[in-house]
Amino acid sequence: MCGIVGYVGDRNAYEILIKGLHRLEYRGYDSAGVAIVSPSGRINVYKSRGKVSNLEHYCKDKDTAGSTGIAHTRWATHGEPSDRNAHPHYSEDEEIALVHNGTIENYKVLKDALIQNGCKFQSETDTEVLVQLIEYIRTNNDCSLVEAVKEALRQVVGAYAIAVIEKGHPDTIIAARKSSPLVIGIGEGEMFLASDATPIVEYTKDVVYVKDNEIAIVSKNEPLKLVNLNNEETSIDVKTLEFSISQLEKGGYPHFMLKEIFEQPTTLRDCIRGRVVEGGKNIIVSGVLDSKDKFLNAKRIIIVACGTSWHASLIGKYLIQDMCRIPVEVEYASEFRYSNPVLDERDVVIAVSQSGETADTLAAIQMAREAGAYVYGISNVVGSSIPRNTDSGTYIHVGPEIGVASTKAFTGQVMVLTLLAMAIADLRGTMSKEELDKIGAEIIRIPDYVKQTLELNEQIERLSLIFTYAHNFLYLGRGYSYPVALEGALKLKEISYIHAEGYPAAEMKHGPIALIDAEMPTVIIAPNDHLYEKIVNNVQQVKARHGSVIAIVTEGDKEIKNIADYVIEVPDVPECLTPIITSVPLQLLSYYIAINKGKNVDMPRNLAKSVTVE
Ligand code: G6P
Repeated sequence: MCGIVGYVGDRNAYEILIKGLHRLEYRGYDSAGVAIVSPSGRINVYKSRGKVSNLEHYCKDKDTAGSTGIAHTRWATHGEPSDRNAHPHYSEDEEIALVHNGTIENYKVLKDALIQNGCKFQSETDTEVLVQLIEYIRTNNDCSLVEAVKEALRQVVGAYAIAVIEKGHPDTIIAARKSSPLVIGIGEGEMFLASDATPIVEYTKDVVYVKDNEIAIVSKNEPLKLVNLNNEETSIDVKTLEFSISQLEKGGYPHFMLKEIFEQPTTLRDCIRGRVVEGGKNIIVSGVLDSKDKFLNAKRIIIVACGTSWHASLIGKYLIQDMCRIPVEVEYASEFRYSNPVLDERDVVIAVSQSGETADTLAAIQMAREAGAYVYGISNVVGSSIPRNTDSGTYIHVGPEIGVASTKAFTGQVMVLTLLAMAIADLRGTMSKEELDKIGAEIIRIPDYVKQTLELNEQIERLSLIFTYAHNFLYLGRGYSYPVALEGALKLKEISYIHAEGYPAAEMKHGPIALIDAEMPTVIIAPNDHLYEKIVNNVQQVKARHGSVIAIVTEGDKEIKNIADYVIEVPDVPECLTPIITSVPLQLLSYYIAINKGKNVDMPRNLAKSVTVE
């Protein structure tokens, strides 16, 4: 939700900032802007509604010289997307400029007080309140920028990652965070800052993840300094980035989404590397070993997540209940945190989050920890907030996911949940060695099965042409395939804007069946599992209403092949591994339908990849 970038050094700041904004565009793309301290001593601010490319176009004939600057790509919360509401925001006297990711909850009270003191506002944003407040404190108390930022943040309620520049001190950026991510890159005679490390990795691998309530003094010639709101210096923990710039490029694919779909054989191999050993006879999930007693004694597991991660979590429920015989609940983090949940120290709460930054998921686990529950995290982004706020956890290691519609992170999450369930089952003795070994051996083959599934690409592309102009889609599945149906429907609506609903196949009779007619395609996920015969009935129920059926079936399927209009055959795998395989054709189907409709699949309207606001 909004991306911020900053640079201080000797290079041309504008180029670094624009490149950085492109890398962060997945976080929001309503509007964008830059503020650069020009050699003449003023701060030039340029902003434009729309994507970063609009801003670039707008800046073509502008003076963008300068080697210190901040920039922003916005996902609107307060105030519509417009040039005026875009960041950076100036203080009234144009002495300072600020970018912000997050929300200032008490902005109204602060704004009213500032207006009473004669302050004039240019925008409808909560952010402008912060910059005006900082300037008000700075001029009235005659203090330094960092002192004014500190005092302003003491008055602010909400979430923020901010970066502020000052006309009078062109070689320094003041940055701060609370509940919104902020990373600082340390170079030689230059420093970078950003909402995540993707704009930084090209220049340096040495980064510092700023913690909540810390203020960073980011200078060209001075070492990085971190202080808290009480003015105490805090320690600096430099980490080394483990991904490379090539992982952030499209690598010959037209879109990140397609690249990420096709990367899945590799990402799944990375995800299981070192975790499935001895030919599948040994499953090592280090996080589980660290939390042995907790998983041995857990009376209940609650999984909290949002969006696609919630769908992966639902598969996790089926896996853990089946394999470990522990009751599992899956909650939307946004509901869980306000539901007054009953928790104690024998509950294990698992947070699943690709970004590791989703505000609701983060708040849910903070609450669970306060209530005494043990918290385990499953994330992709190393060093992000959720893994830093859990008792233990596991990374999915699928590399940076840039496409807003999650694909490789979903299959990585399901894979880690599978390994987690197997490791806990082994600990608790709820599955025999033989059963575990059999699944372990198949897991090693999963990257190849996914590769084989991707060979259906052309068939699915052709199929997509038939359904591009459907107005509604229904996705049905049972058991492990029910969350796959939910995820398939979400993928389609996210990027093609076609209304799609995922439903448990049998529940169709209690409502959605009324919608079925010759105009409405139904996608049925029907691998050869223990519910196969039941879902055959559901296919027949749709066909009896003249609905058109696209079925995802296991290779060699006999029955559904004769009833459905179109079948997509995927490799035969054990039931618990089917979601990883059956979700792949659904990713491709939604991708091609959206492409046929001319939609921007990597940046669908109104969405953002990382939702760091409530
Ligand atoms: C946004 C993204 C989704 C993602 C969800 C949860 O809605 O567009 O792709 O599934 O947030 O994000 P997380 O990073 O917590 O998995």
